[in-house]
Amino acid sequence: MIEKIRLAADYLRDRLPAAPQVGLVLGSGLGGLADRLENPVYIPYSEIPGFVVSTAPGHAGRFVAGQLAGRQVLCMQGRLHFYEGHSMEDIVFPVRVMKELGIEALILTNAAGGVNLEFSVGDLMIIEDHINFMGRNPLTGPNDEEVGPRFCDMTFAYTPALRELALRVAAEQGVAVRTGVYLGYMGPSYETPAEIRAFRTLGADAVGMSTVPEVIAASHCGLPVLAISLITNMAAGIEKKKLSGDEVIAIADRRAQVLQDLVQGVVAKL
Ligand code: HPA
Repeated sequence: MIEKIRLAADYLRDRLPAAPQVGLVLGSGLGGLADRLENPVYIPYSEIPGFVVSTAPGHAGRFVAGQLAGRQVLCMQGRLHFYEGHSMEDIVFPVRVMKELGIEALILTNAAGGVNLEFSVGDLMIIEDHINFMGRNPLTGPNDEEVGPRFCDMTFAYTPALRELALRVAAEQGVAVRTGVYLGYMGPSYETPAEIRAFRTLGADAVGMSTVPEVIAASHCGLPVLAISLITNMAAGIEKKKLSGDEVIAIADRRAQVLQDLVQGVVAKL
């Protein structure tokens, strides 16, 4: 596994303007943060050895490298989802490559449904912990000790210091944020109302179809993580209406600036 990671990392090193310090994974409709990078360099995933290309709406499918708030960042504008039929190994491959390139922190964003009844559409939630309901774990199969340990601790997967930093930056910016537990669902169908009631009982505050595999892989290779959900809709059955992917993207568009300001503020203080 490490050889494949190094092959992709070597290819990227030749094309990157500088060694990246921070990795960013931008969720559905949230790719606009990459437009804030200074001196951007674009590298489509299709050109990188070992990379697989996303088919999900709102995902550009490329790295954008450049400076943000004085730091060298490497943005994933578009990520892979399990519901697209990709293997867990392919989904987490870019995280491992970014680690090999030397990033010191990984910041992930996603669009999610609100499960906590106190949440509202447009809220930001700093993820404290997750429940893996995807039915898969990216670490199954042979383990490469050069990448990480066979049994990977998840107690501090969502790095406490980064969560505290994000809360501080949000307070400074006057942005109200929630904290909570993200439940990863396989999709691509949205959940049923009964599943959402069950997930609430289990302790979930938000539900989405990404992030969990990447965070497990980041923990495995020792990468500090900050993950933030944008609540694009209340989860199934909470409001008496159907859910739509178009609405998710529309709300993500509307609240993208606030989320981007928060991420930029955090990057500035890393
Ligand atoms: N469920 C799952 N994934 C999602 C949702 C949802 O309600 N909203 C945005 N992504």
